[in-house]
Amino acid sequence: MKNGTDFIPGLEGIVAAETKLSHVDGRAGKLIIGGFALEDLAANATFAETVYLLWHGRLPNKTELAAFTTEMAALRPLPDATLTLLKSVAAEKAPVMDALRIGAGTLSLDVTEAQLPLAIIARLPTIVAAYWHLLHGRTPLSPRPDLNHAANYLYLLTGDIPSQAKVRGLETYLNTVIDHGLNASTFAARVIIATGSDMVSAITGAVGALKGPLHGGAPGPALDTVFEIGSPENAERVLRAKLAQGERLMGFGHRVYKVRDPRAEVLAAAAEKMFAADGNIALYNLAKQVEATAVILLEEHKPGRNLQTNVEFYTALLLHGLGLDTDLFTPTFAISRAAGWIAHCFEQQQVGRLIRPKSTYTGSTNRTWRPLQER
Ligand code: ACO
Repeated sequence: MKNGTDFIPGLEGIVAAETKLSHVDGRAGKLIIGGFALEDLAANATFAETVYLLWHGRLPNKTELAAFTTEMAALRPLPDATLTLLKSVAAEKAPVMDALRIGAGTLSLDVTEAQLPLAIIARLPTIVAAYWHLLHGRTPLSPRPDLNHAANYLYLLTGDIPSQAKVRGLETYLNTVIDHGLNASTFAARVIIATGSDMVSAITGAVGALKGPLHGGAPGPALDTVFEIGSPENAERVLRAKLAQGERLMGFGHRVYKVRDPRAEVLAAAAEKMFAADGNIALYNLAKQVEATAVILLEEHKPGRNLQTNVEFYTALLLHGLGLDTDLFTPTFAISRAAGWIAHCFEQQQVGRLIRPKSTYTGSTNRTWRPLQER
């Protein structure tokens, strides 16, 4: 920054917080979460362990984890008022992210302030699944306290106890996207909590920020391309045609990562394991070939720009393999990222300082007031 009055659109390059939660190294293609390399943490931890890590600054021991997961499971059922509200929202056929935002705002109704962070994490999956059923004219299922966080979410959506391979696939996804530096929704949460406001307000605001297409992303289109290609021998022809028409290949390129997004690496490995054990491995193999062709063609298209696979490509494949409709992709992202938002809120509360940047005035300064009847 040249001086304190320079305007930096989008605050690019401005450091607005210090955090111990995650570190994004875009040049090296490294992501550290709670001190661990992503590839070490994501495929090994349960989501509850990762949440504990971010909230307490260390991994839990056996007793701590048992208490944490038991408390979280007990908080899964929604307040009656939330369900009543979701029924009205479903009657309007609102998008799932709108229902999540509306439902999230009610989560403080029947819990203490101390219970609220865990209640939010426990209940966002219940909201998404309940709303999904209501939207399709079905009765929501009751949460299962005997299932872990990921398994319970899949059960609430499908009514089936998921396979271990699917539960592991979802846990790895949730761990992978839990936090990513000072992204837009996290910043929104920090701004809200820094005013002295409450956790539900911060999380509701963050859901609103995540909903925007420039942030929560649209992994759906990346998957559409794979389906459109259908068979490996079509990959080059279809992708070349898209580039020739000036289209961007979805799931490739990133503002921060100038090498392959480390999350793509982790999610590709998770998807391969999951599809091999419980899914359509041919779809995974097709996606791999589409990816390889796309990276070659993008290098030809923009030499030296190093347009590589981003997180969205394998997110789409993994969530599809879990049986999730594309409309559930961004809400599922929110279910994970909420734990990161809350961790950032805790950090911001420690800072205890209002976030209040300034603006440069570009309007006029010499207007003269004229009464209404003279205008
Ligand atoms: N396909 C084709 N060309 C591309 C792609 C792509 N996926 N990505 C970038 N390019 C081209 C651009 O057209 C641009 O060309 P130009 O210089 O002739 O205008 C050049 O590469 C640089 O593009 P920028 O937009 O400056 O790259 P930036 O780093 O700002 O954009 C972005 C990153 C928006 C993700 C971009 O790569 C893109 O649109 N990708 C496709 C959409 C996508 O996958 N989004 C999810 C991103 S991950 C996430 O948000 C969580």
